[in-house]
Amino acid sequence: MLVLTGGGDCPGLNAVIRGIAKRARKEKGWEIYGSIEAFNGVFREPQEIVKLTRRMTAGIHVKGGTILKTTNKDNPINYPVIQPDGSRKFIDRSDDLVKKLNELKFDAIINIGGDGSQKISKVLFDKGIPIIGVPKTIDNDLSSTDMTFGFQTAVQIATDSFDKLVTTAESHNRTMIMEVMGRDAGWIALHTAIAGGAEVCLIPEIPYDINKIVKRINSRYKNGRGFVNIVISEGAKPKNGTVTATAGEKTSEHVRLGGVAYQLSKQLKDAGCTAEIRETVLGHTQRGGGPIAFDRVLALLFGVKACELALEGKFGRMVALKNNSITSVTLEEATAEPSFVDKNSDLVKAAKGLGISFGD
Ligand code: F6P
Repeated sequence: MLVLTGGGDCPGLNAVIRGIAKRARKEKGWEIYGSIEAFNGVFREPQEIVKLTRRMTAGIHVKGGTILKTTNKDNPINYPVIQPDGSRKFIDRSDDLVKKLNELKFDAIINIGGDGSQKISKVLFDKGIPIIGVPKTIDNDLSSTDMTFGFQTAVQIATDSFDKLVTTAESHNRTMIMEVMGRDAGWIALHTAIAGGAEVCLIPEIPYDINKIVKRINSRYKNGRGFVNIVISEGAKPKNGTVTATAGEKTSEHVRLGGVAYQLSKQLKDAGCTAEIRETVLGHTQRGGGPIAFDRVLALLFGVKACELALEGKFGRMVALKNNSITSVTLEEATAEPSFVDKNSDLVKAAKGLGISFGD
């Protein structure tokens, strides 16, 4: 069996690897190998494929990152090739990859990754590769699983930071803007805002009216005293506006987001907000470190399930959490559509009931 991790890292990847390895070792004749840095380990000459010994996987479920390394740049179906003029051309290397994988003769391949990685799994499966997907992402934006591991850890990290910003906001009568990750999905921001007790929560799914936020901030100050804590998702945008990412450059498949906290700060000042504002961009701290217990459990269960699917020869599927059960869906379903926050959902309604403004 060959295991690999692709896309951005996420707390719980090592727990999945350990889950697969532990379950596989209960069966006679199964050995586990890992491809280093997603499929790059297969492409490289010499190949970088390592045998995952007991020693290598012992106790790794508590560790952040991935022992197999990862990349969100070298997508085999949209592979970047640097041209002589320095520009990049994207080519489809899937046939080359299929050839190499067939030569390696693995009975099963387990691809642990997000949306992009599972699209790769689907292409490979359609070309005859015995592959199984395991969903991961802190963004929680896959609709075919009720939750991805790593998400709860990211929310916990963001909430811990939020709590710290509340005490300093209160001491200085300040308005604090905390920016969290999530790309086009506002799950991390929404959960953090509820858990932390934010006054304002801005997410990509609900474009905001800056004047409404100024009004909300003003309502929290009396004679210059008061404080406000705002959570903004990196993909949030104003009504009739677009996302402005100061991070900007395209180093991976996506344009890098990041920096909307500063944009919001400026917009607030331009709209007449007189509160003293400070901005915090949490960035990659949300992905770093070990997984919290919930994510360890989910990731270990996903690992065991993925291994069992492989042992049963049920390829072309991705493990998933559905209604409190560990189950699986086809790779087609897995990659059909992303999961975004529904502005009419109970979660958003409850957040509004708690007094959180979405600026809408
Ligand atoms: O998809 C996970 C994620 O952490 C997003 O929330 C974020 O926008 C992106 O990855 C950051 O990517 P990179 O690691 O390339 O900066």
